[in-house]
Amino acid sequence: MERLQKYLSSCGVASRRKSEELILKGHVRVNDEIVNELGFKIKEQDKVYVDDVLVTRSEKLYYLLYKPEKIICSVSDEKGRTTVVDLIDTEEKIFPVGRLDYDTSGLLLLTNDGELSNKLTHPSGHVPKTYAVKVEGIVTPEELRTLEKGVVIDGVKTKKAYAKLVRTDKKNNKTYIELTITEGRNHQVKKMMEVINHKVLKLKRISYAFLNLSGLSIGEYRTLSIKEVRQLYSVVNKK
Ligand code: URA
Repeated sequence: MERLQKYLSSCGVASRRKSEELILKGHVRVNDEIVNELGFKIKEQDKVYVDDVLVTRSEKLYYLLYKPEKIICSVSDEKGRTTVVDLIDTEEKIFPVGRLDYDTSGLLLLTNDGELSNKLTHPSGHVPKTYAVKVEGIVTPEELRTLEKGVVIDGVKTKKAYAKLVRTDKKNNKTYIELTITEGRNHQVKKMMEVINHKVLKLKRISYAFLNLSGLSIGEYRTLSIKEVRQLYSVVNKK
């Protein structure tokens, strides 16, 4: 038997006092019942949820990495090359959430939470991901609109996207755009740009849902806060 607020804080949900607030405000459910009074004691077999997210003591790890180019986005490599997992200092078995190409840099999540990873990478895709894209040639407003409406890649039309012109470099015949997509199909951005006849020269993911790269230099990482993990769960559970 353990007091509910003590259990919540020991699982890292929030401080003891904040956990009490969560309870009093009706955010906490034990099995099927909302518990909104203090003093409740839970038993070993009870399941505790905060805003419908199961609270567990088992250690779940969440990292946000600023992936450099030329690093393989997988757990291991048969040729022994450095992978994104090698960049994180942990003994736990973690894996990347989705993929970034070898030559793509930017925001990559890594975790050992299979449930969250599956939800974030589900083909019905819903989580917005923004890429900074440098392409060959000058992209016209019409071409940007074509990208936004959806283009056919591998026989299937892409979902609505958002494309913003950042800068054109007429002298060097290059365009910089930001493209926000909600799916995560294989080489999606490169293939979308290929449809409008612009070769991608550089690709960097600058945001993933509400997360961005601020405070991190290339190759650096940080852990996600519990609040951010809960927010990610609420993004995917809203679908
Ligand atoms: N789209 C691509 O083409 N490559 C990536 O790495 C990510 C999105």
